[in-house]
Amino acid sequence: MSKNLKNILEEWKGLEEEYQQLQETHRMYLKKLDELSKLQNSCSSSISHQRKRLNEISQLVKKSSKGPSEEDAKILDEMKEKIKNRPNAFFQMEAFLPKKNGLYLSLVLGNVNVTLFNKQSKFAYKDEYEKFKLYLTVILLLFSFISYFFVSYRLSDVILNFLLVWYYCTLTIRESILITNGSRIKGWWVFHHYISAVLSGVMLTWPEGNLYHIFRNQFLAYSLYQSFVQCLQCYYQSGCLYRLRALGERHNMDLTVEGFQSWMWKGLTFLLPFLFFGHFWQLFNGLSLFRMAQLPECKEWQVSVCGLCFLILFAGNFFTTVAVVRQKLKSRNQKPKSL
Ligand code: COA
Repeated sequence: MSKNLKNILEEWKGLEEEYQQLQETHRMYLKKLDELSKLQNSCSSSISHQRKRLNEISQLVKKSSKGPSEEDAKILDEMKEKIKNRPNAFFQMEAFLPKKNGLYLSLVLGNVNVTLFNKQSKFAYKDEYEKFKLYLTVILLLFSFISYFFVSYRLSDVILNFLLVWYYCTLTIRESILITNGSRIKGWWVFHHYISAVLSGVMLTWPEGNLYHIFRNQFLAYSLYQSFVQCLQCYYQSGCLYRLRALGERHNMDLTVEGFQSWMWKGLTFLLPFLFFGHFWQLFNGLSLFRMAQLPECKEWQVSVCGLCFLILFAGNFFTTVAVVRQKLKSRNQKPKSL
């Protein structure tokens, strides 16, 4: 055998050994995956079972609450407290288990699993979502600025509205994925993005005319302001995300959270006036459009539809923000040292 062939055979032998090792590691990996999938199924069905039993037991507790002795009442109270907290624990467990996609995600993505199985990936996804919002908001801000001050072409308005439709649709998909992964985004904020997508879509179809030009500047100024507020909001929300991650905790906080709390309240107090001003601007837009719809020359259906969208946005944003702040104040007063 030639020396050259001998060398090749030696190399091949080494590679074959590595390949055997790889096969063994991959076999173990598949076995673990299989075990993981069994554990996931077992946890999911245990959670369903627990939920069912919890419901039954809470009915029994309700029935036996009438006129128990002092000692029994104490036991029942303890049990009630545990029953109240259990759904929260299930929610946190489910954030790490595969789930069937909701209707919207099934329609958009099909039946693909979107659950991320560790905290780092969840954090990275949320962080990317905040960055995506920030970058797009800066682009929208620049676009609105240029359209407001420098160019007045129908084409630039169309591009801006098209960008807005795409942006809001993308947000709804990303937010649905975040919710599947245990985020506590309130349903309204997602719905708010659906309405905003519809609003921008309708603006896109509004034919150029006198009324369009009257509303155009008001809309661009509003877009400019909204993008500015969204930059502040992104700063606040990324700040919360990073600080909570630094604390190593998410939804169940303890003493260590005091620093975070004070930062959050400072951020919120700064942000709220801007947010409320934006909400009242939405109300103003809605009312202006409805007044416009009363004019005899108004023939476009887009005027009242946009007006309605702005009014819905105002009502939803305003009342949800008030509810969020009230809820935060309440939990601060109830448990001064926890979130
Ligand atoms: N859009 C997307 N996600 C939001 C959100 C919003 N407007 N408001 C809150 N969230 C998310 C948070 O990031 C958090 O997610 P996580 O569970 O994955 O960490 C979750 O919802 C719970 O947040 P919460 O503690 O209720 O509120 P917050 O302190 O993060 O923010 C406000 C509170 C009031 C600042 C925020 O809700 C807000 O900015 N609302 C106003 C939006 C608005 O009106 N926009 C129009 C401006 S003109």
